[in-house]
Amino acid sequence: MNKKQVLFSGIKPSGDITLGNYLGAIKNWVDLQNDYDCYFSIVDLHAITVKQEPKDLRKSTLEIMAIYIASGIDIKKSTIFIQSHVPAHTECSWLLNCYSYIGELSRMTQYKDTSKNKDQNVSVGLFDYPVLMASDILLYQTDLVPVGEDQKQHIELTRDIATRFNNLYSPTFKIPTPSIPKAGARIMGLQDPTKKMSKSDENENGCIYILDSDDVIRRKINKAVTDTVGIVQISDDQLGVKNLINIYSVVTGLSFNDIEEKYKGKNYSHFKKDLGDILVAELSPIREKANSLLQNKDELLKIAKENSDKANYVAQKTLRKMKKKIGLISL
Ligand code: TYM
Repeated sequence: MNKKQVLFSGIKPSGDITLGNYLGAIKNWVDLQNDYDCYFSIVDLHAITVKQEPKDLRKSTLEIMAIYIASGIDIKKSTIFIQSHVPAHTECSWLLNCYSYIGELSRMTQYKDTSKNKDQNVSVGLFDYPVLMASDILLYQTDLVPVGEDQKQHIELTRDIATRFNNLYSPTFKIPTPSIPKAGARIMGLQDPTKKMSKSDENENGCIYILDSDDVIRRKINKAVTDTVGIVQISDDQLGVKNLINIYSVVTGLSFNDIEEKYKGKNYSHFKKDLGDILVAELSPIREKANSLLQNKDELLKIAKENSDKANYVAQKTLRKMKKKIGLISL
């Protein structure tokens, strides 16, 4: 029997999970888990590259774990673990730091965007974020990394670092391939459709969170910015409506054309009402299941422990290989 290819992805617990995270990442993972040996991490060490309240970090970490499971990630098929429970990630990160260049890290768009609004106190961790991400991916000999569009550059850097290490020593890492969904790769903010929907959006109406109540989901869709054109169509002059059609399409599987046809001659409020209903139908079962899993934190921690044992075993294997090639003495 052929061994399955390996898939790795993760979400950082730096706030509540958004519809962008769900449509750009989690929803695709659920489909992929039958064909790949999957590792899904809650990347808490990435979250602390910017300031986090300890109690919020703990809460978000368990919430993400519950949302993974509630969305359909099956713990019998996939390994769900918390990044900080597998020390190999930080150790590998140090080693890879010595093969990563300041120039290439300085070019990362996410670093430039995130550090732009901060005055002096940009942490070294924020700068080094992509090397930790490379470690996450490379430790598992990953073939495929399903992420939203914004993470593509980090995967390209991971490929460069891995190739550099392999060329310097001998083949050590698989070279991973990014998988960006055709639809859903870039969900935009509901209040500002020129910016991606983000956990850190200051305007809470800009963002739908997976654990939002039905009423809040409907209200946020109702308030989403549109335009005065009044036609439900894909147009670069109607970015708000375009984003809503995109969301509608990813959730229902209908094409843009089908949606435009369906709402011909109908006004935005009709379209928005339907979209609100569609999102509630998609998200409310996930919210209910996640909330019920969160009632039993011990059970979630038990799953985290069992899964991190498996992740530790695989990650250590690659780490040992790296150390040997570099010339570090093992006992
Ligand atoms: P994070 O938590 O910022 O995002 C998690 C995933 O959600 C996707 N995403 C979006 N997709 C579509 N539209 C949006 N508006 C949107 N916002 C976020 C992201 O592309 C991502 O797939 N650095 C990673 C976390 C990470 C990781 C890894 C991922 C750490 N190590 C290793 C893959 C492999 C991140 O962006 O997290």
